[in-house]
Amino acid sequence: MEEDKSLPLRTGATQLVFGEGNADTQLYFLGEAPGYYEDREGRPFVGQAGKLLDQLIESIGFRRSDVYISNVVRFRPPANRDPEADEIAAFAPYVNEEINIISPKIIVTLGRFSMNKFLPEARISAVHGKVFKVDWNGKRQIVMPMYHPAAALRSTAILAAIKGDFQLIKKALADDTLEVVEKSQQENAQSSQLSLI
Ligand code: URA
Repeated sequence: MEEDKSLPLRTGATQLVFGEGNADTQLYFLGEAPGYYEDREGRPFVGQAGKLLDQLIESIGFRRSDVYISNVVRFRPPANRDPEADEIAAFAPYVNEEINIISPKIIVTLGRFSMNKFLPEARISAVHGKVFKVDWNGKRQIVMPMYHPAAALRSTAILAAIKGDFQLIKKALADDTLEVVEKSQQENAQSSQLSLI
């Protein structure tokens, strides 16, 4: 990624922010994009949202170093603006390969941009905390969408929701019989096509 000059957003950023953590983990957290502190330190989720994420991870019995934490975009967008669809798409091959290597039991998406990678039509207010099984790279992948921790810092209602949703991750890890919302490949393909239109 350091050498791939085709990647967008590089010129406005200080440095690449790669994913970090335990590559043998069952839990892969996928956020949006580096912010000011992440850009400065070259590590994901080290600002205020990251501190909350650490607490949430500890609330389910793990340390940050037990899990893997990453982002759909790896350079800070100017003035922390939302990443654009073509920017997310440019980083996607790297994100996909990272997921293949780690092969987590559960992908926890943080916020709508990483959620929409797996559930293109979903609305976060309707699906947060639910357990989805999506067709992903030839296998069934469990995905749990969560609110973004930065949103939880702005709203006590979202903070309460994300705290509750994290407890469901613990349950999902322990319980293979958990009720899941199945998304077929066809549904995903259809919704991807719709979002392209
Ligand atoms: N928000 C994100 O989505 N990712 C980070 O790394 C930091 C804040």
